[in-house]
Amino acid sequence: MIGRLNHVAIAVPDLEAASAQYRDILGANVRPPQDEPDHGVTVVFIELPNTKIELLHPLGENSPIAAFLAKNPSGGMHHICYEVDDILAARDKLVRNGARVLGGGEPKIGAHGKPVLFLHPKDFNGTLIELEQV
Ligand code: CO
Repeated sequence: MIGRLNHVAIAVPDLEAASAQYRDILGANVRPPQDEPDHGVTVVFIELPNTKIELLHPLGENSPIAAFLAKNPSGGMHHICYEVDDILAARDKLVRNGARVLGGGEPKIGAHGKPVLFLHPKDFNGTLIELEQV
């Protein structure tokens, strides 16, 4: 059901410092920051030959990233995103198998303009999983 790894998201306390590190030290192709008010984050995409890294920083009052950074002050891996062909079929299969879909189970439009869903980390080995329909 899942396809390619679309991205790995890393929450960072300092977006500019993290972007500079990926650009200047790791030599990656780093895109400009992008505000995603619907998701409470500012995102920087890093384009690698086989996938993307998504640097996440809190935006606004109720950012879901703020609590994560409070627990992980130096930052940390926040989620991984797998591609699926049909997000509603994927969701229905997951729910039938007992997985919990966050936020009521209806897909939202994600940072790439495509429908996304998040799965409860306790159901997947402690890893928050995002599914993106491509
Ligand atoms: Co993501």
